[in-house]
Amino acid sequence: MPILDHFSWFAPYYDRLIKPGDAEKMLALLQLSSSTRVLDVGGGTGRSAEMARLRTSHILIADLSPAMLAQAAAKGFQVTAAASEALPFPAGAFDRVIMVDALHHVCDQPQTARELWRVLAPGGKIVIEEFNLHVLWVKWIALAEKLALMRSHFLNPLQIAALFAGAPADASIQIETEGATVWVIVTRLAH
Ligand SMILES: C[S@@+](CC[C@H](N)C(=O)[O-])C[C@H]1O[C@@H](n2cnc3c(N)ncnc32)[C@H](O)[C@@H]1O
Repeated sequence: MPILDHFSWFAPYYDRLIKPGDAEKMLALLQLSSSTRVLDVGGGTGRSAEMARLRTSHILIADLSPAMLAQAAAKGFQVTAAASEALPFPAGAFDRVIMVDALHHVCDQPQTARELWRVLAPGGKIVIEEFNLHVLWVKWIALAEKLALMRSHFLNPLQIAALFAGAPADASIQIETEGATVWVIVTRLAH
């Protein structure tokens, strides 16, 4: 459990304070069709799921914070209260798994990576978006979150990719960076 439950009190203001993500970039990475099943892990208020909703309605948001999920549910998203380390879904249940600005908040990142991989269907893709720790001001954010007792643990792009190094040979891993953002894309080859 977090030392302080920051997202409980932040939830009603979150969408007003955090600007929308780069939908064009996310949609280019996700390559969605209207039948694609998307799981947004640590999806919070649905800020990132809103981008996926431009292409598919099969979206599920999983998050630890009931307050954040309440915001997402109010927008019409299907939500589940769950920890990224123990996702309550069968293996291969989703074609796309996204995790935006959430990996650095979880307690157990290697276990989270194993869970993202487990629920991914063959031919599917995991897209993790994070701040790029190689950028100076991101190091300041990381420090600020630590001082705010947020339990954040930022990884650099190679460390995020390395979380999937133990995946079977049917994984291909790609890293893209743009400004202060990094995307780690893990593709599970189709059988
Ligand atoms: C900064 S918010 C990002 C929300 C959303 N992905 C977005 O892009 O706006 C981080 C979210 O991660 C969630 N979170 C933190 N640890 C988690 C865990 N272990 N499992 C699931 N969600 C978690 C928090 O409750 C919060 O909603």
